[in-house]
Amino acid sequence: MIDRKYIIANWKMYPITVNEVRDFLSFFTDVKCPQGLDAIICPPFPYLSLFDQSNCFKLGGQNCSDKDKGAFTGEVSAFMLSQLRAQFVLLGHSERRMHYHEANDTIKRKVVLAQSCGLTPVLCVGEPIEVYQEKKSFAYIQQQLSETLSSEIDLTKIIVAYEPIWAIGSGLTPTKEEIKAFAKAFKDEYDLPILYGGSVNAEVASMLAAIENLNGLLIGWASTQPDEFKKIIFNFSGNN
Ligand code: PGA
Repeated sequence: MIDRKYIIANWKMYPITVNEVRDFLSFFTDVKCPQGLDAIICPPFPYLSLFDQSNCFKLGGQNCSDKDKGAFTGEVSAFMLSQLRAQFVLLGHSERRMHYHEANDTIKRKVVLAQSCGLTPVLCVGEPIEVYQEKKSFAYIQQQLSETLSSEIDLTKIIVAYEPIWAIGSGLTPTKEEIKAFAKAFKDEYDLPILYGGSVNAEVASMLAAIENLNGLLIGWASTQPDEFKKIIFNFSGNN
């Protein structure tokens, strides 16, 4: 797992129509993913079943419940996702932490449940702007990780995505040197695949492609644009 590259599309609550999903899929019909790279789409739950084997994508959920079943209106379990061919699940995205008040202990329960259903959790961590300005990002993330990665969690089957909150949807990114330093510091401490996310486009993907210790990218808006997403996949893999 640690030697693979991952390009993960977080579609959030887009696109609005089923037809746009179909157009996206037909764009990719004959596109082969580069060797050694997983291109993973995390669509809204109702769109999961629109994906078939006619493209090279793997699938992920954007969230799952911290319960395995029961009277929990509106929740979707990790096991349900696994039956719709999902192999990954985003957990702890900053939008979930912010808008749905998800704390590290809830996220930890989700990670454990996801792994028990055979899903690979993609644990999202990242600091707010004030923490970045105070140059305390790594300590902040270490705390998020230490409060989540308990002994029940299989550390050989989890991916971490570093997404500074201030970089998401803002057009801002840390510098290449900052991401490089972060990836190295992270790898020195944790032997897990690490991704970067926050305002990634095709140009940023090229810039980050050669960073040692960086296993991939988590992409929001640009991943809903077929042409841009294809460029991101190939620019990051170096096969452009
Ligand atoms: P963005 O979102 O690429 O639109 O900044 C990234 C994310 O929220 O995962």
